[in-house]
Amino acid sequence: MAVVTHALGRHVALVGFMGAGKTTLAGKLGDALARPVVNVDEEIEARLETTIPELFAARGEAAFRAVEAGMLGELLERRHPLVVDTGGGAAAFPDNRALFEQEAFTLLVDVDVETAWTRCRTTDRPLAQDESAFRALYARREDAYRSVAAATVGSDDLDGAVLAAAGIHYELGALDRLGELVPGDGPVALVADSTVMGIHGPRAQEALGDRLASTHELPAGEAAKQLAVVERLWGELRL
Ligand code: S3P
Repeated sequence: MAVVTHALGRHVALVGFMGAGKTTLAGKLGDALARPVVNVDEEIEARLETTIPELFAARGEAAFRAVEAGMLGELLERRHPLVVDTGGGAAAFPDNRALFEQEAFTLLVDVDVETAWTRCRTTDRPLAQDESAFRALYARREDAYRSVAAATVGSDDLDGAVLAAAGIHYELGALDRLGELVPGDGPVALVADSTVMGIHGPRAQEALGDRLASTHELPAGEAAKQLAVVERLWGELRL
């Protein structure tokens, strides 16, 4: 299944390694998108009236993973879109990843292993008690995070997170990669106002290659914000 490319009407799931700053970004993103933020670990702690370190110690990691998977399922099933702040291991398991792919726009909060270890080494996180095990876990999980995420941001990149959630992709050179960046492999209609089309249209057309089904130029500026313009576009689009 392809990853969901925007969060319009969907949950945003933040994934990433321990110490990435998921919780910090989740709070800000919840404010920016006017959505409730739910922290999966906190939900588990409240439900079981225990702490994550106690749960690991008393019942082991496997028991924690079962509870975590159940909680993820419960939260992502909710209809009202949330920002779901997951624990660092959530995206490491295929069943959870399938759930993310089905129910959420998944955003990777990226961190390098040095920073992660500096942030976590003095905490009581059960999987951050031994440096070499921590580093090995980081290396093992990297691919899993990237495979499930539609976009990647740093924890201080609120703007990047908001744009990504809206399905907006920006990076240097993105225009030349339009053909691969537009989701799926079906036909694409290129729509732009006359100014943008004049500057970037040919490059965008070339980048879309065989996928380009049609090109539609709108008047520049305020003139485009008319029902008649929308009606014409609607009539022209053949997708
Ligand atoms: C874990 C990360 C923790 C917490 C638990 C396991 C992991 O969450 O869920 O200690 O396996 O990486 P944070 O990523 O919020 O630290």
